[in-house]
Amino acid sequence: MRKNILILITLGILVLAGIYYFNRLLNERQAHLAEEEPVVIGLSMGSVREERWMRDRDLFIKRAQELGADVIVATSDYDIKKEIFQIENLISQGVNVLVIITSDSEKIAPAIEKANQAGIKVIAYDRLIKNSNVDLYISYDNVKVGELEAESVLSIIHHGKFAYIGGSPSDNNSFLLKEGAMKALAPYITSDDIDLVINKFTDDWRPENAYKNMKDYLNAGGQIDAVVAANDGTASGVIQALKEKGLAGRVPVSGQDAELSAVKRLIEGTQTATIYKPISPLANKAAEFAISMANGLSPESTTTVDNGLIMVPAYYFEPVVVTKDNIMTTVIQDGFYTFDEIYKTTVR
Ligand code: BGC
Repeated sequence: MRKNILILITLGILVLAGIYYFNRLLNERQAHLAEEEPVVIGLSMGSVREERWMRDRDLFIKRAQELGADVIVATSDYDIKKEIFQIENLISQGVNVLVIITSDSEKIAPAIEKANQAGIKVIAYDRLIKNSNVDLYISYDNVKVGELEAESVLSIIHHGKFAYIGGSPSDNNSFLLKEGAMKALAPYITSDDIDLVINKFTDDWRPENAYKNMKDYLNAGGQIDAVVAANDGTASGVIQALKEKGLAGRVPVSGQDAELSAVKRLIEGTQTATIYKPISPLANKAAEFAISMANGLSPESTTTVDNGLIMVPAYYFEPVVVTKDNIMTTVIQDGFYTFDEIYKTTVR
């Protein structure tokens, strides 16, 4: 009996010593890596058109540099071939980790395969990458964003002719947003209170495409009572079309991103709500994850998402509804905009 207890104690000491030395080696390895060469992050941006992406880029670079890493940025504009070429280029430049905001959630796959072959970890930033071995997806709860977009319009009117103006069909987020919006609209559509008269995606998220979809409908004599738009860019196109028919301000319209022009439209009364996604937590966390993943650590994901090939570790942030009534306690309080930017500069 005594002998068994002694054996157990000795084994316990050996296990603890093993854990201690393993952690020490890991820390030494990280310290060594940090001392030797900075981590180099390849940041590939498939689009920088919307205002938010500049903020994402700048905050990401700032946080990465604070932590001693270097960032190489490659930008393409909804040109998937160029995007793939740029990622291959980042791989051959020897980046240690890739952070990708893709313009095409499906067609980007060959570039991810190249990264996998080179042993480079990949983070899908804000937009999921489908059917590939991605190491982390970091974003907002996009289904929730879509739900909030629809709910903010439904809180004003929940019957009549509605339009759903979606995002780009090449962006997986567009499907998640639509799923969320339809979740909120479905009971009203089923009860025939809402007639969904427009239900369209918007190629490349271009406001001019959203404008055209709305304008064509109105020009054909269509009536409209409310519009759920996937982002502020598409909302701006819709509102322009409504304006030309004297309907702006009379038809509730939602969007997302809390773009400055959209916040001004809330005040002006031509847009009902914008879903605000504070960018700094996302950009900061992504930079922190990128560095730790380049150093061989696993990200502390909180959930997983099926990308068609694997369950990708995922990490989400919460979106917030902004209307004209809570501008002060949301975007201004957060420092996303100053009071003067919103109230003292002219509308674009
Ligand atoms: C993002 C939105 C953005 C849109 C267009 C989406 O993937 O989640 O914030 O407005 O792309 O760039």
